[in-house]
Formats: sequence, structure tokens, C-alpha cells
Amino acid sequence: LWKTDNIIDTHVENIRHLVGKEKVLLGLSGGVDSSVVAALLHKAIGKQLVCVFVDTGLLRFEEGDQVMQTMADKMDINVIRVNAQEMYFNGLKGESDPERKRKIIGELFIRIFEQQARDLDDIQWLAQGTIYPDVIESAASSTGKAHVIKSHHNVGGLPDDLALKLIEPLKDLFKDEVRKLGVSLGLAPEMVYRHPFPGPGLGVRILGEVKREYADTLAKADHIFIEELRKHDLYDKTSQAFAVFLPVKSVGVVGDARRYEYVIALRAVETIDFMTARWAHLPYEFIDLVSRRIINEIDKVSRVVYDVSSKPPATIEWE
Ligand code: XMP
Repeated sequence: LWKTDNIIDTHVENIRHLVGKEKVLLGLSGGVDSSVVAALLHKAIGKQLVCVFVDTGLLRFEEGDQVMQTMADKMDINVIRVNAQEMYFNGLKGESDPERKRKIIGELFIRIFEQQARDLDDIQWLAQGTIYPDVIESAASSTGKAHVIKSHHNVGGLPDDLALKLIEPLKDLFKDEVRKLGVSLGLAPEMVYRHPFPGPGLGVRILGEVKREYADTLAKADHIFIEELRKHDLYDKTSQAFAVFLPVKSVGVVGDARRYEYVIALRAVETIDFMTARWAHLPYEFIDLVSRRIINEIDKVSRVVYDVSSKPPATIEWE
């Protein structure tokens, strides 16, 4: 029988035994797994846990502030927020190839995280939000790297000379178990049951070259879409929903004036395993409402379209 309280006690015991008086470093992404690891480690070892949260500028609307509010202010967890937005936008300048964008974003994360690890020279452990499916995935893949630095991350690892011992408290748990654990540890259910968000973030939802202006516009549009989905009780009925920024300009009229502005695509899917997916048949009235809000509230958008492609052949993300 799977009892969360027992699980928590057992984990806390094990972590304390393993770590002793030493310090643990954790990369906090804002996602479910790393947040649950943070809450669990905090319960076990309190201030011996140091989290690094890299604000890439490619996160969801106000996500950086939210992470700090929940983890640092409310839960009193040690969190270092690294404002790396400039680095990301500079690093991505002029790059429009999806795979190279992913690579740049992943490598920047490693570089920034590694620098933090070096600056905090009294750290002995590296914690990771690896869950059981990641372990299987990395065993199946020939590189075996998926579980070294996961999610953002998906690339490389930390250099050997940092010589940190690895702790992965969730590595025997399935996603639904991780979620239950998170709620029991006091994380908000809305956060714990959030749709998946790709490691490269908005970087792969802005087609082509990434710019701060595009990211800000996209985050606002995405926020409106998600807010309305929740309000209309549709969020939990879709598996993943988000907005995509299309860097093409299209004409619109506001009053007597013509506007020549960008296009936002809305994407919502239903799926069990994310390997295949069908586009969510959201009510027309609902799509209409979201479209109106986005065009009225965001100056830089003059047109909204709805993605009616299923996977396969289309992927869930646009890049
Ligand atoms: P696709 O677009 O391949 O997406 O149908 C399937 C699922 O994977 C997520 N995804 C990613 N997650 N890094 C991630 O951590 C990535 O580069 C990445 N690309 C896609 C996507 O959001 C969907 O849930």
C-alpha cells in the first residue's frame, strides 16, 4: 500500500542518514519534479539545502517571481535566483534552427549552474529530480545521459572535478506518486498538477529567432489562454495547452486604424502518453473568447489561430 506519510518519513530518514551534516545543491526549474525534491530535502535537512533557480527569460508568465514566492518566501527554502535573461537572449541572437536553439539553452544552463556550484565551494552533494521513467529512458538510450542532468538540461553533465555525490530521492517513483508526495509536502495542487513544460521553455515556442519582445508577448498570450482554461474548467480536461509565437505580421484593424502585428497560435492536445495526441476539441465560444482577449489586451498581436493538427504527423510543440 502506498502511503504518502510513510513514504515521506522513510525518505526523510534516508536523506538525513545519507547526507549527514553536508550540503546539497539543487537546480530548481519551476517544474514539478525539482520542486518536490526541494520540498522533500528541505523537510529532511533544512538549510543544508541550497537551490539555484536560473531565470532564463523563457519561463511562463511571472514564473520566476512565483517560484521565489513559493519556495523562498513561503517555504523558507534557500534559493539563489540567477537572473540570466540577458545571457539567454544574447546567446540565442540570430539563431533560428530549433535543435541549435535547444543546444544553446541547455549548454547555457549547465554553464551557469556549474559556475554557481563553484562559487558555493562547501557543497558535497548534487540533488536531481530524476523520476523512475527517466531512469528507464536513460537505460534504454545508448547515451545514458538523460538522468545525469534532466529536463532543462537534457545535455551533458557537470565536470568531474566538481566531484559532487549524487542524490536522487524520487528515482523509484512514478509521476503520479511524485505529485501526491508534492501535495503532502505542502506544494499547491495547481502547481503539482500543471501541464508539462519543455526544458527549453518558450525558446521552442517562439518560431525561429528568439527575442525578449517575442518572449514577453508570448508569455502574456499563454497566460490568458491558461487562465481562461482554468476558469472554464477545461485545464484538467486537456493534457497540454499553450500559445506559440509566430514571427509573421498580419493586418488587423482597431477602430479606423490598420495594425500590422504578430500572430499567436493556440495549441491544446489530449493524450495519454504524449507519443500520440489529438487536438483538443475546445468549444468555439471558448476559443472566441480567448482570441478576443489576446488581441484586445496585447498590442503586438493582431491575429489568433487554433492548431488543428494531431500527432502524428504533427508534434505537440511547433519546434
Ligand atoms: P513533441 O513536440 O515531441 O512533444 O510532440 C512531446 C512532449 O515532450 C515535450 N518536449 C520537451 N520536453 N525538452 C523537454 O524537456 C524538450 O526539448 C522538449 N521538446 C518537447 C513536449 O512539451 C511534450 O509534452
